[in-house]
Amino acid sequence: MNAAVPRPVIEDQPVFMAAAFAHDVLAGLAAEPKTIPCTWLYDREGSELFEAITRTQAYYPTRAETGLLQSHMAELATLASGPVAVIEIGAGSITKTRLLLSVLPAATAYLPIDISAEFMLESLASLRLDFPGLPCIPVIADFTDRDSLHKAIARCPSHARRLAFFPGSTIGNLTPDAALDFLNALGESLGPGSLLAIGADATSDADILKRAYDDPEGITAAFNLNLLARVNRELGGDFRLETFRHEARVNQAKDRVEMHLVSNTNQEVNVLGRAFHFREGESIHTENSHKFGNIRFEHLAARAGWRSQMVWKSSEHQFEFHVLDRPAEPALTF
Ligand code: AVI
Repeated sequence: MNAAVPRPVIEDQPVFMAAAFAHDVLAGLAAEPKTIPCTWLYDREGSELFEAITRTQAYYPTRAETGLLQSHMAELATLASGPVAVIEIGAGSITKTRLLLSVLPAATAYLPIDISAEFMLESLASLRLDFPGLPCIPVIADFTDRDSLHKAIARCPSHARRLAFFPGSTIGNLTPDAALDFLNALGESLGPGSLLAIGADATSDADILKRAYDDPEGITAAFNLNLLARVNRELGGDFRLETFRHEARVNQAKDRVEMHLVSNTNQEVNVLGRAFHFREGESIHTENSHKFGNIRFEHLAARAGWRSQMVWKSSEHQFEFHVLDRPAEPALTF
């Protein structure tokens, strides 16, 4: 690893992560219907495959959001002028961050949070070449866990205003209830006066969605199937990957695209010495990607105490980028 990258803060210890992964897989395979949380899609291979998805023609969100950021970032700079500490949630490849940091010359610190340690640290090494003077505090943590999120944000130098950067419509990977809890927790941890810059995909066209989540090159299929390979690698599983197929299902009633791994046959699979039966056609539900056409991101955010400052919408797709702030609590009057 590049020597210039600071030692990361490991908020969630690797041994704890391994136990949490084992727990979620064993519990999820025993459940009816079977499910494994999408957090676990992002080991090193999964993070690389996700980056490859973002470069496909079919996966429009990255292109749409990058276009918005390129056109409007200067507007955000006017809101966030002065000393500001940037916290990136689910930092991954740290690509769009460059657009943000280049309009924030007074940024005092950059604190990326991600569960995929190696991948984030390598990405950070390259970012530091472009922003050599910027203090960086990488934090390895599962941001979907309220406690881990709070501890991660507490690492941020407190004197500057805080700006949370959460691109990619990753908020859509939470259910609306969980997204509401997350936005509340984020606001509480960041504190009054903070800013939130966040992507939210509102696309509803079923054909566009189906193609985006089941691209013709098969990269999304490989991304999904890598979860079974990860279970084999890390939990001594004996999944035969060729007996499962990736499926993207557009669930209009729930405003989301679902990813499933469907068994092509009746079979038994062993994980950590426990046997799990699959019927032909039975699936493991591995991801939800909620779309905000009906849910309306701004309503969800307002319910969590965030005030809209700017909304940019892409012309080609229904992708939105929102900038919000967190007003100080109204003073109590007696
Ligand atoms: C990271 N997240 C926002 C992506 C999405 O669109 O839900 C993950 C993804 N899953 C399949 N393709 C991309």
